[in-house]
Amino acid sequence: MRVNRRTFLVLSAAFAAGCVSTPGGANLSAGNHENIVNAGPASQYLADGVYARYRDRGFFLVRRGANLVALSAICTHRKCKLDAEADETFYCPCHGSTFDVDGKVTEGPARRDLPAYEIFTNEKGELLVKIPAG
Ligand code: FES
Repeated sequence: MRVNRRTFLVLSAAFAAGCVSTPGGANLSAGNHENIVNAGPASQYLADGVYARYRDRGFFLVRRGANLVALSAICTHRKCKLDAEADETFYCPCHGSTFDVDGKVTEGPARRDLPAYEIFTNEKGELLVKIPAG
């Protein structure tokens, strides 16, 4: 790809906004303060369970039967990253809040449930997760 001054400025702005990356953890551009993370082939999330590989990108994927949900991996108390437990619950190491597999608070101090993010697939069958920026 040939990069001229205009392309360079556009790409620089997108990277500065944290809105661009690639498959396998990739962000795609979104000019509306959202990041779209490419979580790879949707076919790798067919078995029931919690998929924590995108925890550091801010979400867990939870498959239960026909439903696949992207739950925030950020505690609603003071924004610490949650840990996915073996029993498919989520634990906050900062102050001890717990959430069930649906993201509902089971123990405080957090009082708000985990938000679910919009997911969709592209023409390649890849799973895309739309997460709010910042
Ligand atoms: S940040 Fe999670 S319980 Fe306080």
